[in-house]
Amino acid sequence: MEIAGLRLLVVGATGVIGGALTALAAERGARTAVAGRDPARLAAVAAAVGAGPGLRFDAYDLDGCAALASRAAAALGGLDAVVTAFGTVAFGRAEECSDAVDEHLLTVNALAPVAVLRGALAVLPPGGALAAVTGAVVSTPTAGMAGYGASKAALAAWLDAVRLEQRRHRITVLDARLPHLDTGFAGRAVAGQAPRLPAGADLPAYLAALLDGLRTGAARLEAGAPGGGPLLSR
Ligand SMILES: NC(=O)c1ccc[n+]([C@@H]2O[C@H](COP(=O)([O-])OP(=O)(O)OC[C@H]3O[C@@H](n4cnc5c(N)ncnc54)[C@H](OP(=O)(O)O)[C@@H]3O)[C@@H](O)[C@H]2O)c1
Repeated sequence: MEIAGLRLLVVGATGVIGGALTALAAERGARTAVAGRDPARLAAVAAAVGAGPGLRFDAYDLDGCAALASRAAAALGGLDAVVTAFGTVAFGRAEECSDAVDEHLLTVNALAPVAVLRGALAVLPPGGALAAVTGAVVSTPTAGMAGYGASKAALAAWLDAVRLEQRRHRITVLDARLPHLDTGFAGRAVAGQAPRLPAGADLPAYLAALLDGLRTGAARLEAGAPGGGPLLSR
C-alpha cells in the first residue's frame, strides 16, 4: 500500500493529532475524507486538504459512527484505510471519579471507535488497513488515569482480536499507542486535573511513523526506538 493515491478516512480530524495526520497524508498524495464533531474546525480541515464537505459525527451516535466509512467510500469512490484519532480524558483517583465519567470515557474512547472500525470492515477491500490512536497508557498502567486507561485498553484488546480475524482477509490493524504529545489534550479533560506531565514526544515523527505503519501493515506503534522515538512492530 502506498500513501500517494491512498483513499483515507481520518475520524477525529478536528483534533490536533487527527488534523496534523490529515495534512501530512494529503501532502504525501493521499485522497482524504475527514470526520469530526466541531463544525467550524471540520470545515477548516476539509477545506485545507480539499476533502469536500467533512463528515459530522458524535461519538454518542454509534449508528452514525458505523456509517462513516461507507459515507467516505461513496465520496472517494472506495476506501483503503481508516484511522480513528478522537477521544477524551479524565483525571483523578478511582474513588474520586464517577460511573458517569467512566461511561463517558468508555463510550467515546472504546465503543465509538469500535463502531467506526466495524463499519469500515464492511467497506475495505483486501489489502486495506484500520488504525486507531490508543495511547501509551495501554502498556503502562498510570495512577490517576484508571478510567481513561481502561477505555483505551478495551479498544486495544478489540484491535488485537480483530487483527487475528482479518488476517485471511488481508486487512491490517494498527494500534498506535502514542506517548504524551503536547497537543493540549490533557488540558481539555472532562474531569479532574492533569498531573505534571513529561515533555511531549516528537509529534511529526509519530505521525510519519503512523502513516508508515499503515503503508507497511504494522500491528503496533509505540515509543521504543533509541531516544524514545517511534517504533513499529508487526
Ligand atoms: N495528546 C496526547 O498526549 C495523546 C497521547 C496518546 C493518545 N492520544 C489520543 O489521541 C486522540 C486525539 O487527541 P489529541 O491530542 O489530538 O487531542 P484533541 O486535539 O483534544 O482532539 C480530540 C478529538 O476528539 C474529538 N472528540 C472528543 N469528544 C468527542 C465526541 N463526543 N464525539 C466526537 N468527537 C469527539 C474532538 O472533536 P472536536 O474537536 O470536533 O470536538 C477532537 O477531534 C485521543 O484519542 C487521545 O486519547 C493523545
